[in-house]
This record gives sequence, structure tokens and C-alpha cells, in this order.
Amino acid sequence: MHARGAKSRDCGLRIADCGLKQNRNAHFEESLNRIYAAERPELADIEAVLRIGDPEELHTLFDFAAAVRRQFVGDGVLLRGIIEFSNICRNTCLYCGLSRSNHRLPRYRLTRAQILAAAEQIRAAGIKTVVLQSGEEDDLDADWLREIITWIKSSLDLAVTLCVGERSRAEYQLWRAAGADRYLLKIETSDPDLYGQLHPGMSFANRRRCLQDLAKLGYQTGSGDLVGLRGQTVTHLARDVQFFKEGNFDMISVGPFIPHPQTPLAQEPAGDLQMTLKMTALARIVSRSVHIPATTAIGSLHGRDERPKALAAGANVLMPNFTPAPYRRQYEIYPNKRCISEDVGACPACMEQMVARIGRWVDYSRGDSLKNAGCASHTINL
Ligand code: 5AD
Ligand code: FES
Repeated sequence: MHARGAKSRDCGLRIADCGLKQNRNAHFEESLNRIYAAERPELADIEAVLRIGDPEELHTLFDFAAAVRRQFVGDGVLLRGIIEFSNICRNTCLYCGLSRSNHRLPRYRLTRAQILAAAEQIRAAGIKTVVLQSGEEDDLDADWLREIITWIKSSLDLAVTLCVGERSRAEYQLWRAAGADRYLLKIETSDPDLYGQLHPGMSFANRRRCLQDLAKLGYQTGSGDLVGLRGQTVTHLARDVQFFKEGNFDMISVGPFIPHPQTPLAQEPAGDLQMTLKMTALARIVSRSVHIPATTAIGSLHGRDERPKALAAGANVLMPNFTPAPYRRQYEIYPNKRCISEDVGACPACMEQMVARIGRWVDYSRGDSLKNAGCASHTINL
């Protein structure tokens, strides 16, 4: 049995109670226990955890995150079928291959019929959530998307997650009224200055406004960050963890930066896998019942699929790709993205095997937020 019903806010987990090996570095363990218990975890404690490198300490961190994951969301791994319906984008984020400055990328927008066909494939695979993701399009017709949401809700009865960037409150409201359940909008970095450097013409304040609007409108709201951005320090990452805690999100996604050759960050090193896993573990430890994907970027870094490591460090979600060919290849946020040449529908079977190998199982339920189980109101404390 998995612990889907475990809703206690204070499960009183401590490293010593989890059957985990006591660590030589008592200082690190105390930091970890304090981070877990605190309403406002201290920056110094989070930084101390982010700086560990000893294999035994890493083991303790990941095992503790896995214990929190087991206690609050169980052993099942949820699937979210993703349709990348447009790679058109008005922004010029320095790290992203979809930037409008990348003139080499062929642009596409799926037709309504193509999106509905992909959603039907998701339903046929037994998956209960469709994620509709796109670049941030200037010309996105809000009513066109509203009709698609309405059709998916009425004909397929799937949970609908949107990931279409910064939009007006009125648009968020329109889509919510049409039945959209969830929204993903990563903060990327919680440092306003660093945010400004990486996102020309965008503002941290507007991003936060969007997250607040989404939560107030009753969306299950997801955020997250990128690890290894140019100019990002351990202190920035520690503040991201505090941001995750304060935000009281329903979902958190952590991925490594992967340099894209057609962007200004082409020559920068990729984000570090170990640091990405530490951030995943800390997101689980501070946010407990939150849903955390083993991101496709973790599966794509250096051409190796390290998603099982993320699942072992606190993650409980995988996102099979249902974008049809040839478009899937053109949703090139970063190069060498996993699963671009596989047939549509290949991912779920592959994921079944992946989770079985680590003694877990695929959970085919909707996987709604467990944050306020039994409580309809959403609060966000940004
Ligand atoms: N490397 C890794 N992830 C990236 N994203 C955008 N560009 C990159 C990159 N170069 C992520 C952002 C965004 C998500 C859709 O893709 O975090 O929120
Ligand atoms: Fe997509 Fe393995 S997860 S093919």
C-alpha cells in the first residue's frame, strides 16, 4: 500500500528515526533536521546541505528525501502526458533555445485537430493528466486555447495542466473557468537581479504576480528553478529553496541548465547533476507533499538518463512526451533532449520499466495536489 492517505503536516521525521545510518557529520544532520522542521528554514542550514560532497552525506540526504516522499506521497510514480503545442516565443531568455533570437529554429504551432489527437493518445495510454506546453506566444488566441481545454475536459475527462508562460489575469481566469486544473510557471531563479540579467525585457515582479494570480484563481500551481545558470551561486540556490517553502506550491520542478548552441550561454558549462539532485531533495524536504518530476532535462544531461536518481532523491512524477513528429524535435529548449526520436506512446512503457527497476510502480491516477487534501482554498505566501 502506498501512503496516499498520509496527510499529517507534522510527521516528525528525523534522520535518526528513518532507519538511516547515523552520519559522522552531526552538524550536517542537524542542519537537515532543522530544515525539515522549520517554518522558515535558515539560509545557513540550506547552504550547508548544498555544499556537502561526501558520498555518505549525499546518501543520507537522498535517503531522507526519499523517506519524506514515501511518507507524504507514497511509492507510486505519476505520469503526465505532455503536448508541446507551439515553439513560438516572444521572449529572449538567455538560456533557452526557443528564444525568438534563435532564427535557425523552424517554428510550428499544432492545429486544434493535432492537439486533440495527441490528447486522445494520452487518454488511450491510461494517463489522466495532459500538460499543454508552449513558448510564450504573442499571438496566442486565448479563446482558441479555451475551446481546446473545454473539449479535453468534456470528451476525455483529463486533468489539464497549462504551461504557456506569463499571461494576463483575465486569460488565466478564462482558462480556469473552462476547466484547466493546474499551471506550471517556473521562477527559474528567485533572485530578482539574476532574473533580470537572464530574461531581457521581463520582470521578476510580473512573474511573481502571475504565480499569485494563478493560486488565487484556484489553479494547482507549480514553480521551480534551473540549476547552473551563469552567475548563480549556492546562496541563490538556497534562496530558491526558501522560495519553494514560502510559495506553498503544489508542484516543484528542478532541472539542470543545458547550454544551447544558438543562445548567448552556448559556451557556459551545464548545470551539475549532483547539485540538481540536492535541490530536488531539498524541495521534497521543505515542501513534503508537493509533486516533483524527475525532469526530462535530468534525463538528457550529458546524454545519460539520470531520472532514476531524481526519483531516488525525492521525485514522484514522470512526463512522457506525446508531441507528434516532426514537431517534437523542434521543441528544442536545449540540445539532445531525451525521447525525441521515439514513437509517440513509447515513453509510458519505457517509464514502467524504469520505475520497476527501482522497486516503484506507475500510478495511473490523476495525481491532484496533496497539499491541502480535503481543503478547497489555495493560499500562496509570496
Ligand atoms: N536547459 C535546461 N532547461 C531549460 N529550460 C529552458 N531552457 C533550458 C535549458 N537551456 C526550461 C525552463 C523552462 C522549461 C520549460 O524549460 O526551466 O521553465
Ligand atoms: Fe521516453 Fe524512455 S521515457 S522513451
